[in-house]
Amino acid sequence: MKKNFIILAIDTSCDETSVAVTRDDRVLSNVIASQVEFHKEYGGVYPMLAKRKHQEFIDPAIREALRRGRVAWKDVDAMAVTVGAGLAPALEVGVAKIKELAKKYQKPVISVSHMEAHLLSSFAKNSKGNGPFLKIKPQFPILGLLVSGGHTQLVLMKDFGEYQLLGETLDDAAGEAFDKVAKMLGLGYPGGPIISELAKTGEPKYELPVAMVNSGDLNFSFSGLKTACLYKLQKLGIVADKPAFAKPACRSGRASAGKQFYCDFAASFEKVLIESLMVKLKKAIESYRPRQIVLGGGVINNLPLRQASRKVARKYDLRVFIPHNNKLLTDNAAMVGVCAYYQAKRNDFVKDIEKLDRQPNLNF
Ligand code: KG4
Ligand code: ZN
Repeated sequence: MKKNFIILAIDTSCDETSVAVTRDDRVLSNVIASQVEFHKEYGGVYPMLAKRKHQEFIDPAIREALRRGRVAWKDVDAMAVTVGAGLAPALEVGVAKIKELAKKYQKPVISVSHMEAHLLSSFAKNSKGNGPFLKIKPQFPILGLLVSGGHTQLVLMKDFGEYQLLGETLDDAAGEAFDKVAKMLGLGYPGGPIISELAKTGEPKYELPVAMVNSGDLNFSFSGLKTACLYKLQKLGIVADKPAFAKPACRSGRASAGKQFYCDFAASFEKVLIESLMVKLKKAIESYRPRQIVLGGGVINNLPLRQASRKVARKYDLRVFIPHNNKLLTDNAAMVGVCAYYQAKRNDFVKDIEKLDRQPNLNF
């Protein structure tokens, strides 16, 4: 494959319309048009609204990605698109757009798995070539912990293109649990950033169950924790879905006792959720003896989760790699472009563009 391989990548898997331009494993631009504001009133992502917003945002996002990347169509060597996993109506927009562009510009296409892209997000370098795997090279097998609003997975990466799914959530994803518990507390959407902000000044004094500790496998489950939170709140007389206060102001130093309750509850929930993830991370390390660890997905924005992962890894003398930029954690097309670059290296291109289709339930 030629050097300086330029890819235009699209991801419309959920509620971010994202388009990126990459050159080999370097990110030249990563445009993310978030729809969060539009989905807020539904307390979660509303698929048909996501589709309409993707249709509205996609062309401007493509133009902006090319402009920021200082790349013209004639320089683009290939295009990449997320085909799954994701919301079917949302994925459809990216896939249709790639088909249209492939015909118009006669470019080869790479079909990308959203979860593989999350897994490879730590391999993305910035435009100057800096990134997590710079001084230390990848050493396989690498264990990936992917935690987002849609997925919670442990994956063993034996090489680029060689993956083994070790465990995943049997019900809600960890990010979804953050969002639902925030909703119960009347705190708004998305819940992860709000809860983690409140938790910073909270005491984890409420007892909640750490799920699946003795399940014997590497799967996760968060619906029990969610229900336990609901019961606990009911018992404490907190009415679910009713905003108790407008802004998380615990850190302002003017917090009333009421506000402190939210901080303490957030800290209790966050602690238990992280503990559930760490139990399985430890177990995966002991069972599969990886040489390195990578983290990916929007929930990895959570600092106590990063710290806990590093602490676990240190015990086994392992290094943890995290993407060089937070934009690579939440849904974005730069990780899709980098994943596509590694696929292009193994000549993994779409053979018949007419047959390209979305795969909402795709797993690696
Ligand atoms: O990866 P992502 O953008 O979307 C999916 O692919 O699902 O992740 C979004 C999720 C949301 O559930 C959001 O609440 C959560 O990531 N999140 C966080 C934090 N920041 C975002 N969860 C916990 N702590 C955070 N700081
Ligand atoms: Zn995602």
